[in-house]
Amino acid sequence: MSKLPIMIDTDPGIDDAAALAIALFHPDLDVKLITTVAGNVSIEKTTANALKLIEMFGKDVPIARGCEHPLVYDLDDGSEVHGITGMDGWVFPEPDYSRLMKEHAVIAMRDLLMESPEEITLVAIGPLTNVGMLFRLFPEVKAKINEIVLMGGSVTRGNKTPTGEFNIYSDPEAAHIVFTSGLPIRMVGLDVGWKSFVDGKHMDMLPEINKVCEMLEATFRHYRSNQFEKGIVNMYDSDAIAALVKPEMFKWVNTHLDVELEGKYGRGQTVCDLDERYGKAHNVTVAVDVSTKVFQDWFIESLKNCNI
Ligand code: RIB
Ligand code: CA
Repeated sequence: MSKLPIMIDTDPGIDDAAALAIALFHPDLDVKLITTVAGNVSIEKTTANALKLIEMFGKDVPIARGCEHPLVYDLDDGSEVHGITGMDGWVFPEPDYSRLMKEHAVIAMRDLLMESPEEITLVAIGPLTNVGMLFRLFPEVKAKINEIVLMGGSVTRGNKTPTGEFNIYSDPEAAHIVFTSGLPIRMVGLDVGWKSFVDGKHMDMLPEINKVCEMLEATFRHYRSNQFEKGIVNMYDSDAIAALVKPEMFKWVNTHLDVELEGKYGRGQTVCDLDERYGKAHNVTVAVDVSTKVFQDWFIESLKNCNI
Protein backbone atom coordinates (compact mmCIF):
# COMPACT_ATOMS: atom_id res chain seq x y z
CA MET A 1 0.00 0.00 0.00
CA SER A 2 1.46 3.43 -0.89
CA LYS A 3 1.95 5.93 1.92
CA LEU A 4 -0.60 8.69 2.47
CA PRO A 5 1.03 12.09 1.77
CA ILE A 6 0.24 14.56 4.56
CA MET A 7 1.23 18.01 5.81
CA ILE A 8 0.92 18.86 9.51
CA ASP A 9 0.18 22.31 10.93
CA THR A 10 1.05 22.30 14.62
CA ASP A 11 1.73 24.29 17.80
CA PRO A 12 4.03 21.99 19.80
CA GLY A 13 2.95 21.51 22.53
CA ILE A 14 3.28 18.32 24.50
CA ASP A 15 0.41 16.40 22.91
CA ASP A 16 1.51 17.72 19.51
CA ALA A 17 4.90 16.09 20.14
CA ALA A 18 3.29 12.68 20.60
CA ALA A 19 1.18 13.13 17.46
CA LEU A 20 4.22 14.23 15.43
CA ALA A 21 6.22 11.24 16.67
CA ILE A 22 3.49 8.78 15.68
CA ALA A 23 3.02 10.42 12.27
CA LEU A 24 6.73 10.71 11.43
CA PHE A 25 7.46 7.07 12.24
CA HIS A 26 4.21 5.57 10.91
CA PRO A 27 4.72 3.14 7.99
CA ASP A 28 1.57 4.32 6.21
CA LEU A 29 2.21 8.09 6.37
CA ASP A 30 4.54 10.34 4.36
CA VAL A 31 4.94 13.69 6.14
CA LYS A 32 5.79 16.16 3.38
CA LEU A 33 5.85 19.35 5.45
CA ILE A 34 5.48 20.57 9.03
CA THR A 35 4.27 24.13 9.57
CA THR A 36 4.19 25.89 12.90
CA VAL A 37 1.63 28.29 14.29
CA ALA A 38 1.31 30.31 17.48
CA GLY A 39 -0.97 28.56 19.94
CA ASN A 40 0.11 26.62 22.99
CA VAL A 41 3.07 28.98 23.15
CA SER A 42 4.52 31.72 20.92
CA ILE A 43 5.54 31.12 17.30
CA GLU A 44 9.17 31.38 18.35
CA LYS A 45 8.71 28.53 20.81
CA THR A 46 6.45 26.31 18.67
CA THR A 47 8.96 26.64 15.83
CA ALA A 48 11.92 25.90 18.08
CA ASN A 49 10.04 22.91 19.49
CA ALA A 50 9.28 21.50 16.04
CA LEU A 51 12.97 21.81 15.11
CA LYS A 52 14.01 20.17 18.39
CA LEU A 53 11.68 17.25 17.73
CA ILE A 54 12.89 16.49 14.21
CA GLU A 55 16.46 16.81 15.48
CA MET A 56 15.75 14.26 18.18
CA PHE A 57 13.80 12.00 15.81
CA GLY A 58 16.46 12.21 13.09
CA LYS A 59 13.81 13.08 10.52
CA ASP A 60 14.65 15.30 7.54
CA VAL A 61 11.22 16.90 7.06
CA PRO A 62 10.84 20.51 5.84
CA ILE A 63 9.68 22.89 8.56
CA ALA A 64 8.26 26.36 7.90
CA ARG A 65 7.43 29.00 10.46
CA GLY A 66 3.88 30.34 10.35
CA CYS A 67 1.63 33.01 11.74
CA GLU A 68 2.58 34.56 15.04
CA HIS A 69 -0.82 36.13 15.70
CA PRO A 70 -4.43 35.03 15.23
CA LEU A 71 -6.24 36.80 12.38
CA VAL A 72 -8.09 39.28 14.57
CA TYR A 73 -7.71 39.18 18.37
CA ASP A 74 -4.64 38.57 20.52
CA LEU A 75 -3.55 35.04 21.39
CA ASP A 76 -4.38 33.72 24.86
CA ASP A 77 -1.82 30.93 24.81
CA GLY A 78 -1.77 27.51 26.48
CA SER A 79 1.46 27.86 28.44
CA GLU A 80 -0.42 27.12 31.66
CA VAL A 81 -0.96 23.62 30.23
CA HIS A 82 2.25 23.00 28.27
CA GLY A 83 4.73 24.97 30.36
CA ILE A 84 6.85 27.98 29.56
CA THR A 85 8.83 26.28 26.77
CA GLY A 86 5.76 24.47 25.46
CA MET A 87 7.52 21.15 26.00
CA ASP A 88 8.69 21.31 29.60
CA GLY A 89 10.25 18.30 31.25
CA TRP A 90 12.97 17.20 28.84
CA VAL A 91 16.33 18.60 27.67
CA PHE A 92 16.06 18.49 23.87
CA PRO A 93 18.84 18.90 21.30
CA GLU A 94 19.31 22.52 20.29
CA PRO A 95 17.12 23.51 17.30
CA ASP A 96 19.04 23.67 14.01
CA TYR A 97 17.65 26.82 12.38
CA SER A 98 19.50 26.03 9.16
CA ARG A 99 16.77 23.44 8.66
CA LEU A 100 14.02 26.06 8.82
CA MET A 101 12.64 26.98 5.40
CA LYS A 102 13.09 30.60 4.38
CA GLU A 103 9.48 30.84 3.17
CA HIS A 104 6.58 31.65 5.49
CA ALA A 105 4.51 28.56 6.29
CA VAL A 106 1.59 29.74 4.14
CA ILE A 107 3.89 30.09 1.13
CA ALA A 108 5.48 26.70 1.85
CA MET A 109 1.99 25.14 2.06
CA ARG A 110 0.97 26.78 -1.24
CA ASP A 111 4.16 25.68 -3.01
CA LEU A 112 3.94 22.09 -1.76
CA LEU A 113 0.31 21.75 -2.81
CA MET A 114 0.65 23.37 -6.23
CA GLU A 115 3.83 21.43 -7.07
CA SER A 116 2.62 18.06 -5.78
CA PRO A 117 1.67 15.48 -8.43
CA GLU A 118 -0.89 14.07 -5.98
CA GLU A 119 -3.46 15.44 -3.56
CA ILE A 120 -2.28 15.92 0.00
CA THR A 121 -4.15 15.51 3.30
CA LEU A 122 -3.92 18.58 5.51
CA VAL A 123 -3.66 17.72 9.21
CA ALA A 124 -4.19 20.63 11.63
CA ILE A 125 -3.51 20.17 15.33
CA GLY A 126 -3.25 23.79 16.45
CA PRO A 127 -5.13 27.04 15.86
CA LEU A 128 -6.18 27.36 12.21
CA THR A 129 -4.53 30.71 11.49
CA ASN A 130 -2.14 29.41 8.81
CA VAL A 131 -4.86 27.39 7.09
CA GLY A 132 -7.28 30.30 7.11
CA MET A 133 -4.63 32.58 5.62
CA LEU A 134 -3.76 29.93 3.01
CA PHE A 135 -7.36 29.70 1.78
CA ARG A 136 -7.84 33.47 1.65
CA LEU A 137 -4.55 34.19 -0.14
CA PHE A 138 -4.39 31.14 -2.43
CA PRO A 139 -7.86 29.53 -2.82
CA GLU A 140 -6.58 27.59 -5.82
CA VAL A 141 -4.76 25.21 -3.45
CA LYS A 142 -8.07 23.68 -2.38
CA ALA A 143 -8.07 21.58 -5.57
CA LYS A 144 -4.92 19.84 -4.31
CA ILE A 145 -6.20 19.01 -0.81
CA ASN A 146 -7.61 15.51 -0.39
CA GLU A 147 -9.24 16.32 2.95
CA ILE A 148 -8.65 18.27 6.14
CA VAL A 149 -8.34 16.30 9.37
CA LEU A 150 -8.25 18.61 12.37
CA MET A 151 -8.08 18.37 16.10
CA GLY A 152 -10.38 21.04 17.46
CA GLY A 153 -13.86 22.00 18.50
CA SER A 154 -16.46 20.11 20.47
CA VAL A 155 -20.12 19.15 20.13
CA THR A 156 -20.49 19.60 23.87
CA ARG A 157 -18.34 22.00 25.86
CA GLY A 158 -14.95 23.67 25.69
CA ASN A 159 -11.67 23.51 27.58
CA LYS A 160 -10.26 27.02 27.21
CA THR A 161 -13.69 28.44 28.11
CA PRO A 162 -16.91 26.63 28.97
CA THR A 163 -17.86 26.83 25.28
CA GLY A 164 -14.54 27.19 23.45
CA GLU A 165 -12.04 24.45 22.63
CA PHE A 166 -8.51 25.90 22.59
CA ASN A 167 -7.61 25.54 18.89
CA ILE A 168 -10.88 26.98 17.62
CA TYR A 169 -11.19 29.54 20.43
CA SER A 170 -7.68 30.82 19.67
CA ASP A 171 -8.69 31.88 16.16
CA PRO A 172 -12.44 31.54 15.43
CA GLU A 173 -12.24 33.64 12.26
CA ALA A 174 -9.64 31.31 10.78
CA ALA A 175 -11.76 28.33 11.81
CA HIS A 176 -14.79 29.91 10.10
CA ILE A 177 -12.77 30.19 6.86
CA VAL A 178 -11.84 26.49 7.13
CA PHE A 179 -15.34 25.21 7.92
CA THR A 180 -16.81 27.24 5.05
CA SER A 181 -14.07 26.18 2.58
CA GLY A 182 -16.21 23.51 0.94
CA LEU A 183 -13.48 20.92 1.48
CA PRO A 184 -14.07 17.50 3.08
CA ILE A 185 -13.31 17.94 6.79
CA ARG A 186 -13.06 15.43 9.59
CA MET A 187 -12.99 16.91 13.08
CA VAL A 188 -11.74 15.14 16.18
CA GLY A 189 -12.73 17.38 19.07
CA LEU A 190 -12.89 17.27 22.81
CA ASP A 191 -15.73 14.77 22.74
CA VAL A 192 -13.21 12.07 21.78
CA GLY A 193 -10.15 13.91 23.16
CA TRP A 194 -11.42 13.47 26.69
CA LYS A 195 -11.65 9.72 26.11
CA SER A 196 -8.24 9.53 24.41
CA PHE A 197 -5.92 9.54 27.37
CA VAL A 198 -3.03 7.70 28.98
CA ASP A 199 -2.90 7.10 32.71
CA GLY A 200 -0.39 5.98 35.35
CA LYS A 201 0.07 2.47 34.05
CA HIS A 202 0.93 3.76 30.58
CA MET A 203 3.23 6.43 32.01
CA ASP A 204 5.14 3.71 33.87
CA MET A 205 5.33 1.62 30.68
CA LEU A 206 6.61 4.34 28.35
CA PRO A 207 10.29 4.71 29.40
CA GLU A 208 10.86 0.98 28.81
CA ILE A 209 9.67 1.18 25.17
CA ASN A 210 12.24 3.50 23.56
CA LYS A 211 13.98 6.86 23.93
CA VAL A 212 11.15 8.80 22.30
CA CYS A 213 8.70 7.30 24.79
CA GLU A 214 11.07 8.16 27.63
CA MET A 215 10.95 11.77 26.47
CA LEU A 216 7.16 11.72 26.12
CA GLU A 217 6.72 10.32 29.62
CA ALA A 218 8.93 13.08 31.02
CA THR A 219 6.97 15.80 29.21
CA PHE A 220 3.60 14.23 30.02
CA ARG A 221 4.41 14.64 33.70
CA HIS A 222 4.51 18.42 33.06
CA TYR A 223 1.36 18.48 30.93
CA ARG A 224 -1.44 20.10 32.89
CA SER A 225 -4.34 18.92 30.72
CA ASN A 226 -7.79 19.14 32.21
CA GLN A 227 -7.67 15.84 34.06
CA PHE A 228 -4.07 15.98 35.30
CA GLU A 229 -5.21 15.82 38.94
CA LYS A 230 -6.72 12.41 38.18
CA GLY A 231 -3.40 11.21 36.72
CA ILE A 232 -4.90 11.30 33.25
CA VAL A 233 -3.05 12.87 30.30
CA ASN A 234 -5.22 13.73 27.30
CA MET A 235 -3.66 12.92 23.92
CA TYR A 236 -5.92 15.23 21.90
CA ASP A 237 -3.68 15.67 18.86
CA SER A 238 -2.92 11.97 18.43
CA ASP A 239 -6.62 11.51 17.64
CA ALA A 240 -6.02 13.37 14.37
CA ILE A 241 -3.34 10.82 13.42
CA ALA A 242 -5.57 7.94 14.53
CA ALA A 243 -8.31 9.35 12.26
CA LEU A 244 -5.93 8.89 9.33
CA VAL A 245 -4.66 5.38 10.04
CA LYS A 246 -7.40 3.78 12.17
CA PRO A 247 -10.65 5.72 11.48
CA GLU A 248 -12.78 2.77 12.55
CA MET A 249 -11.73 3.55 16.13
CA PHE A 250 -14.21 6.42 16.11
CA LYS A 251 -17.97 6.88 15.69
CA TRP A 252 -18.40 9.50 12.94
CA VAL A 253 -21.41 11.78 12.35
CA ASN A 254 -21.98 14.05 9.35
CA THR A 255 -23.38 17.41 10.42
CA HIS A 256 -23.49 21.14 9.86
CA LEU A 257 -21.13 23.17 12.00
CA ASP A 258 -20.93 26.92 12.52
CA VAL A 259 -18.23 28.73 14.46
CA GLU A 260 -19.53 31.40 16.82
CA LEU A 261 -17.60 34.62 16.21
CA GLU A 262 -19.50 36.92 18.55
CA GLY A 263 -20.46 36.85 22.19
CA LYS A 264 -18.73 37.33 25.49
CA TYR A 265 -19.41 33.73 26.54
CA GLY A 266 -19.81 31.87 23.27
CA ARG A 267 -17.03 33.15 21.01
CA GLY A 268 -15.12 30.20 19.54
CA GLN A 269 -17.88 27.65 20.12
CA THR A 270 -18.37 25.03 17.40
CA VAL A 271 -22.14 24.83 17.07
CA CYS A 272 -23.16 21.46 15.58
CA ASP A 273 -26.69 20.79 14.32
CA LEU A 274 -26.57 17.12 15.34
CA ASP A 275 -30.39 16.85 15.40
CA GLU A 276 -30.53 18.20 11.82
CA ARG A 277 -33.50 20.40 12.70
CA TYR A 278 -32.42 23.31 10.54
CA GLY A 279 -31.68 21.46 7.30
CA LYS A 280 -28.29 23.05 6.71
CA ALA A 281 -25.90 21.25 4.36
CA HIS A 282 -23.31 19.06 6.05
CA ASN A 283 -19.86 20.67 6.10
CA VAL A 284 -18.01 18.37 8.50
CA THR A 285 -17.76 14.79 9.71
CA VAL A 286 -17.33 14.81 13.48
CA ALA A 287 -15.96 12.06 15.72
CA VAL A 288 -18.47 11.78 18.56
CA ASP A 289 -17.22 8.67 20.34
CA VAL A 290 -14.16 6.44 20.72
CA SER A 291 -13.21 3.38 22.75
CA THR A 292 -10.60 4.52 25.29
CA LYS A 293 -9.10 1.03 25.42
CA VAL A 294 -8.82 0.80 21.62
CA PHE A 295 -7.19 4.27 21.54
CA GLN A 296 -4.73 3.39 24.32
CA ASP A 297 -3.68 0.12 22.68
CA TRP A 298 -3.23 1.91 19.33
CA PHE A 299 -1.31 4.78 20.94
CA ILE A 300 1.19 2.50 22.70
CA GLU A 301 1.61 0.22 19.67
CA SER A 302 2.19 3.25 17.40
CA LEU A 303 4.86 4.64 19.71
CA LYS A 304 6.78 1.35 19.42
CA ASN A 305 7.60 2.44 15.84
CA CYS A 306 9.45 5.51 17.12
CA ASN A 307 12.94 4.03 17.29
CA ILE A 308 15.84 6.48 16.93
O1 RIB B 1 -7.80 21.61 22.95
C1 RIB B 1 -6.69 20.77 22.68
C2 RIB B 1 -5.79 21.40 21.66
O2 RIB B 1 -5.24 22.58 22.18
C3 RIB B 1 -4.56 20.51 21.32
O3 RIB B 1 -4.18 20.72 19.98
C4 RIB B 1 -3.49 21.02 22.24
O4 RIB B 1 -2.17 20.85 21.71
C5 RIB B 1 -3.82 22.49 22.28
O5 RIB B 1 -3.22 23.09 21.14
CA1 CA C 1 -1.88 21.27 19.41
